[in-house]
Amino acid sequence: MSDISGLHKMNVKQRREVIASRSNGAYWSDLDTGGLTMDVADRMIENVIGIISYPVGVATNFMINGKDVLVPMSLEEPSVVAAASKAAKIARAGGGFIAEADEPVMIGTVQLVDVKDVYEGVKNIMESRKEILKMANEMLPEIIRNAGGVFDFEVKPLYTESGNMLVFYFYVHVLDAMGANTVDTVAEGIAPFLAEKSGGRYLLRILSNYALKRIARATAKFPISELGKNGEDAAEGLIHAYNLARADIFRAVTHNKGIMNGIIAVANTINNDTRAIEAGAHAYAARSGRYMPLTDYRLEGDYVIGKIELPLQVASFGGSVGLNAVNKIALNIMKNPGSKGLAEIMASVGLAQNFAAMYALVTEGIQSGHMRLHAKSLAISAGATVSEVDEVANRMVREKSVNFDSAKKILEELRAHS
Ligand code: MEV
Repeated sequence: MSDISGLHKMNVKQRREVIASRSNGAYWSDLDTGGLTMDVADRMIENVIGIISYPVGVATNFMINGKDVLVPMSLEEPSVVAAASKAAKIARAGGGFIAEADEPVMIGTVQLVDVKDVYEGVKNIMESRKEILKMANEMLPEIIRNAGGVFDFEVKPLYTESGNMLVFYFYVHVLDAMGANTVDTVAEGIAPFLAEKSGGRYLLRILSNYALKRIARATAKFPISELGKNGEDAAEGLIHAYNLARADIFRAVTHNKGIMNGIIAVANTINNDTRAIEAGAHAYAARSGRYMPLTDYRLEGDYVIGKIELPLQVASFGGSVGLNAVNKIALNIMKNPGSKGLAEIMASVGLAQNFAAMYALVTEGIQSGHMRLHAKSLAISAGATVSEVDEVANRMVREKSVNFDSAKKILEELRAHS
């Protein structure tokens, strides 16, 4: 079960024991070190001089498609894990999240320039359909080919400031990978043939992060009875908040940023390409020509119904997934969902995160909860030891003065009196 009460009150060792007893097992010692060895780090990027770590937390209470899921999350920002867990608890009372994701299909592109007659080029490429699909699939590992491989393509003329050109889009089933390597290999492999057929030459050969064939959706019924004693007001407030995001880009961007707090935090635990996820999500938010919220809300009877829909180009395998030992632990905690299952979890977390932020904003505001946690980080930065942190943080919150100078002052006073 994922509805573990009081996880936040346990120490790290106790939490690990509880999480281990409810997941597929894990090598917890890797969580002490951040999971990345210097040897691996030195091969991951260039000019390596070290490793930076982030905390890994676990969000509780998620029930997705009738199954309990514990969700590992990693980010630098306090409150996010607590907020996701809180919203998941409310959603759970309404039956949890119902989520679904498209098949993991990525889009590759090849740019064809100096095409003398774009219509002739399109015609020649379309007439070579069988050959192109065959050639593209021959470049793929058998396992991807068997899953569907490159199964379709389109070609589009574009009239640009540097003249007419063609863009060739092809669609690849990438199984549990994000797909960048697979797609780029095919793009580079088929480009010369496409160029020949188009009567021009190829230039860019790269996947598109506008992963429109890889949409994930989640919905949840948040019972108004779970929204505190002024639940009706909170529910009405949520709809006002949502409509502000629909009407005003300044709010919509922040609304969507809150969604990405959850999604990216999960992605971080499994070395997924967070820039790709962000780029795709924000482009999708603007697909109508106007930047809009990625979630939808409406009141229906005793519930606030929340929905989210966005492209999620996520991987449970391949690329950098697994280079950090924590990736495996995180996947185990989620019971190894595969890329589709992962997209369903991330969409649900995004919705939960957004609901929690809006609920806080329309009730007590975001700062009180945030400040309680922020105070702890400040206390640590000011030099508080494990036994001093809570006292320093609590005093800052009580005195409504949560900042570094206060943390230092309180710590000095505390030590002077002990
Ligand atoms: C902070 O990281 C995220 C929020 O600003 C999101 C929102 O306003 O909806 C709280």
